[in-house]
Amino acid sequence: MPDSYPEDNKRRLGKINRNFFLHIHANKVHPHSLKPGYTFGLGVILGFLFVIMILTGVMLMMNYTPSVERAYNSVKDIMFVVPGGRYIRNIHRWAAHSMVLISFLHLIRVFYTGGYLKGRRLNWIFGVVILFLVMFMNFSGYLLPWDQLAFWAVTIGSNIAASFRELTDILGITQVIDIGGFIKRLLIGDDNVGQAALSRFFMLHVVFLPVTLMVLTGLHFWRIRKDGGISRPETQSEGSENKSVRAERTSKYFSWPLVMWAELAILLLCASALLVMAFLFDAPLREEANPAFPENPAKSPWYFLGIQELVSYSAFAGGVIIPVLFLVFLISIPYVDREDEYIGIWFSSPKGLRITWQSIAFTFFVTIALIFIIIRYGWLNTWFPDIPRVLVMLINPATLSAFFYVIWAKWIQRNTGSSRMETTALFTCTITAFIIFTVIGIWFRGPNWEFYWSNAQWPVF
Ligand code: HEM
Repeated sequence: MPDSYPEDNKRRLGKINRNFFLHIHANKVHPHSLKPGYTFGLGVILGFLFVIMILTGVMLMMNYTPSVERAYNSVKDIMFVVPGGRYIRNIHRWAAHSMVLISFLHLIRVFYTGGYLKGRRLNWIFGVVILFLVMFMNFSGYLLPWDQLAFWAVTIGSNIAASFRELTDILGITQVIDIGGFIKRLLIGDDNVGQAALSRFFMLHVVFLPVTLMVLTGLHFWRIRKDGGISRPETQSEGSENKSVRAERTSKYFSWPLVMWAELAILLLCASALLVMAFLFDAPLREEANPAFPENPAKSPWYFLGIQELVSYSAFAGGVIIPVLFLVFLISIPYVDREDEYIGIWFSSPKGLRITWQSIAFTFFVTIALIFIIIRYGWLNTWFPDIPRVLVMLINPATLSAFFYVIWAKWIQRNTGSSRMETTALFTCTITAFIIFTVIGIWFRGPNWEFYWSNAQWPVF
């Protein structure tokens, strides 16, 4: 312990309160919050990744030019001419992808420990917004290298944004009100990806999104303190107390220096992992973007591949209905589930764990069966070529699987009488399905979005 560590509690508190960095934490923390298997340090890792991204991003900006004529060569210079540029770019890229992945894992941890209960609703909603901003921040950076990978991934992403067109086409009103086209233009500033998209994405990536994310992360941290620290199981008598009084009374450890050491260890682990990855794997840079040579298959970034798979069944269902329903579901979780007694316990109870496993098995069965049918035998439009398009839009593997998950969750609710178990079932189904569709999109889709067991089977053009 450092020599300057004050001997009595009053001076310790004074020191923590006066120091800006130490003051991010409450004076004391509950031992439960320090258990590595409770949070896995995911929130702290996310905070560090964000700082690393800003630092490396500022360094990259010194050599990057956001114009379609210069962007590709400036990234090439960063990779092959600027001293250390390759590693800075690699670290930035791997930190960005890790941030998307870890944001999902953090959301999953918060959900299964009931971390949105007991007045933590607002912070859950901040978190959901943060998750979408993190994805969008990654997506906006994807275009900047202006290579074939970037260009076609963003072209696919912008076409997903135009998915509303399927509905307006069916209704025959696209000429009058083209909502999909409007969203796409709003995103890329034109009908096709070009200089307007590059300028927009650059501005979003380096100014608007990081600043918004900083503000929201600040609010997120502030709420954690206001909510009396992170979630933990509570005894009966604690329930009626004021939150901050309770936190102060039941907390045992001074956050300084204990939490600081734990965070420093996480920071070092994080930084080492990124450095190793940056040395071993280069961030991809293909040939310069060429709008005349489409990539086949053209794939969006990995976190949108699940949606791209759904869009291949129906643009409107996969690109609008399902993502909107998923967002509404995420936001509504703390309002549907109000069973505060499950706070701070992984999977709530042995019953919760059992329902989680059953929901995973159910989703595997339903989703893989539907995907098998569409790949092996086709779908309504193959069997009945004259069928109205609106029917295919409403009845396809995306909407059907969502329907079956809701039925399953309602059935769990009827059997257990618990809204916590109902949300556990629905959340598990949606997350498992998201993973299945993403895996299919990443590894099993080849040219023309056909199914292949491996890349080795792809036809040679
Ligand atoms: C930049 C992204 C994010 C950062 C830096 C961040 C940071 C943190 C930190 C440091 C904690 C406390 C420790 C821990 O749980 O590991 C926390 C808790 C929390 N986070 Fe996040 N988070 C982020 C994204 C999210 C997302 C995507 C959600 C999902 C909705 C979310 C919801 C929450 C909630 C509700 C808590 C309180 C949990 C509890 O009390 O157990 N956060 N976050």
